[in-house]
Amino acid sequence: MVLKLKIDVELCTACKLCQQVCIRDNIIVEDHAIELDNNCFECGHCMAICRQNAITLKSFECKEDRIVDYNPRESVLEYDDLLEFLKRRRSVRFFKDKKVDKKTFSKLFEGAYYSPSAQNAQDVEFVVFDERLDEFMDLVYDIIKVEEDEFFRIKEFGDYLRDSSTKEFHPLLWSGKQLILTFSTDKTSAVIANTRLELLAYSLGLGGFYSLFILKAEEINHEKLMKFFPEIDEDKHMYSAFVIGYPKVKFRRTIPHSDIKVSYF
Ligand SMILES: Cc1cc2nc3c(=O)[nH]c(=O)nc-3n(C[C@H](O)[C@H](O)[C@H](O)COP(=O)(O)O)c2cc1C
Repeated sequence: MVLKLKIDVELCTACKLCQQVCIRDNIIVEDHAIELDNNCFECGHCMAICRQNAITLKSFECKEDRIVDYNPRESVLEYDDLLEFLKRRRSVRFFKDKKVDKKTFSKLFEGAYYSPSAQNAQDVEFVVFDERLDEFMDLVYDIIKVEEDEFFRIKEFGDYLRDSSTKEFHPLLWSGKQLILTFSTDKTSAVIANTRLELLAYSLGLGGFYSLFILKAEEINHEKLMKFFPEIDEDKHMYSAFVIGYPKVKFRRTIPHSDIKVSYF
């Protein structure tokens, strides 16, 4: 029997909130909460809901500094503020020379730390490209060149690699010099994690854009791509490629979009 929870029976008041919130029926409350052996996937909801702070996750005991109490009645962000923030988002392709430093990257990855993941797998991982970006882009070209006839950008990219003086900007990276790749076994989890990182980036005055063409390398030849990343489990796929930096451009207004189509059934 592998038990994942540490329950302090002295603190437990048998209120049953943990039992009610557990989607694996892994807790039963009698005189106090008791953990069963029902496949706990360590979502931590029992721990997060307990008024007495009587439950902890054994495998995360060393992460106590990651636990913060808060008042569930207090909202930290109003709808209007968040919407206003989202309205001002623009893809940024032109960047200042200043590079994003490691401390700032760490701040961005905090967003991913608090991201949900399928089956609570928590298997999203990132690669930041800086110095070895050109080397990686050579590999990307080597994989995506099979679609050169279909996409003029790939053709331009090939021309640029042969003679960079032909273009002012890199056909795929524009003036971007840093790139974040997101890997996971699950596409949605990877994309959600990257989106959170992206939003935090805007809040820190950074900008960037997603690159479809870099993602094509994953689509066309996963095995070849993963050879660049021997440390990453091959079951994981690259689901997001985000070029990042300090914006050189300053946008002044929002842009009209097609209406969002929604159906209610
Ligand atoms: C999945 C995805 C892939 C994208 N691929 C590229 C790309 O390869 N190159 C590029 O310059 N922009 C890319 N973009 C940015 C879009 O072109 C951009 O979002 C769109 O033109 C609207 O501009 P906005 O983001 O400023 O609203 C991509 C965006 C997404 C979401």
